[in-house]
Amino acid sequence: MSADILLANGKLPIGRELVEGCVAFRSGRICYVGKEVSSPRARERIDIDGNVILPGLIDAHVHLRDLGQASKEDFLTGTRSALSGGFTTVLDMPNSIPPTDSPENLAQKMEAARSKAVVNVGLYGAFEPSLENARDLARLGVVGFKVFTTRRQPMDGDDDSVIEKALLCARQAGVPVAFHAEDLKTIEGLELMYKASGSSSPMVFADAHPPEAESIAVARIVAICEKTKANIHFCHLSTKESLRIVIAAKTRGLPVTCEVTPHHLLLSEREVSSQGGIAVVDPPLRRGCHQHALVDGLKHDVDLIASDHAPHTLQEKVSENPWNISPGFPGLETTLPVMLTAVNHGMLTMTRLIELLAAKPAKVFGLSSKGSLSVGHDADVTVVDLERRHVIDPSEFESKAKYSPFKGFNAIGEAVKVFVAGRIVMDNGDIMAEPGSGSIVLRL
Ligand code: NCD
Ligand code: ZN
Ligand code: ZN
Ligand code: ZN
Repeated sequence: MSADILLANGKLPIGRELVEGCVAFRSGRICYVGKEVSSPRARERIDIDGNVILPGLIDAHVHLRDLGQASKEDFLTGTRSALSGGFTTVLDMPNSIPPTDSPENLAQKMEAARSKAVVNVGLYGAFEPSLENARDLARLGVVGFKVFTTRRQPMDGDDDSVIEKALLCARQAGVPVAFHAEDLKTIEGLELMYKASGSSSPMVFADAHPPEAESIAVARIVAICEKTKANIHFCHLSTKESLRIVIAAKTRGLPVTCEVTPHHLLLSEREVSSQGGIAVVDPPLRRGCHQHALVDGLKHDVDLIASDHAPHTLQEKVSENPWNISPGFPGLETTLPVMLTAVNHGMLTMTRLIELLAAKPAKVFGLSSKGSLSVGHDADVTVVDLERRHVIDPSEFESKAKYSPFKGFNAIGEAVKVFVAGRIVMDNGDIMAEPGSGSIVLRL
């Protein structure tokens, strides 16, 4: 049988090697991966110019802000940002307005995504206090639940018995629970103290969110996981100690996974002194010893890399009062170039990068037809030029948030073509996808 499209003259990552090869699509699925000589006949042939064909990349942690916070980002700008950065699937966090904690709110968000998104979008759900909605949200296909241990709304993340019940509920529903783990009481106490000090430095955010706040919460969640055996995932680990606790939990056989961000791997607390509020993020950028531990963890222990794309308006980033600075910054357009540069510099291998940005996120969040270049999988593909150099310039971002602590970063490598469901949707930075051409991905 013939194919619709043949991506010809490319290179495929096979083991540790890059091997000449091609990929073909039929009816939105991959129908061939291998040498060109034995490839099927195709209606259309697209020359990949010797670039590297990767499985479509998945960003398992983004905040696309649609509905009530569309001044920061929406599904169109957020998913255009994803395409520009080489991602074919993004998983959207539920701390939106309204929160994704009921079937009605989920339906409303799905509707917005369906009409605007240009890549595949999966949605996380949030628990509400009664946990009554969780089963319905799971039935409707949320890819995971998200709990902030630093928030008492919509569910009290500081109460062990509440978390235990939520984990039991998630285990029954067969859905993993992702945690933003930081200890609320530690942070509340320090915030009081630093607010009283009257400091106006943006560094106070990091002072009030010390490494221990994270490791205390990680240890607490692991202990609850020990009782419930629910699948749990730690978002954006940023400290040496919390990674150590997660590794120990894995060694004991607990169903625990974890992610790190490019900014915690490559940037340090010094960025806040040089860039101010732009570099404020939760958890904060840390000292070098934590960065080194996370980089070491990339070899075996870290499961995935996610951007934690958290756009805010510029105004919300540069407030004079440090307590009014919104933590977070966009990451969809920096993650891949920054991580390809890291591969180029020998920080990790290409094979590992593909696991961290495609295979593992697909596995953890139940996207069974994504994450690898396999026959029968969805025809989502990211083509990268490993040598192309460019300086990161946030004024060119597709995201509404046109700033980044990676501004001026000398990147080596970026996405040059992106295919979603077998159609070319990004070519050399030009986006040809129509709003609404993306699909909702469900964990079912
Ligand atoms: C995120 C946001 O703005 O929604 N901010 C951040 O600094 N990472 C929330 C979060 O992921 O913790
Ligand atoms: Zn978080
Ligand atoms: Zn986040
Ligand atoms: Zn570029």
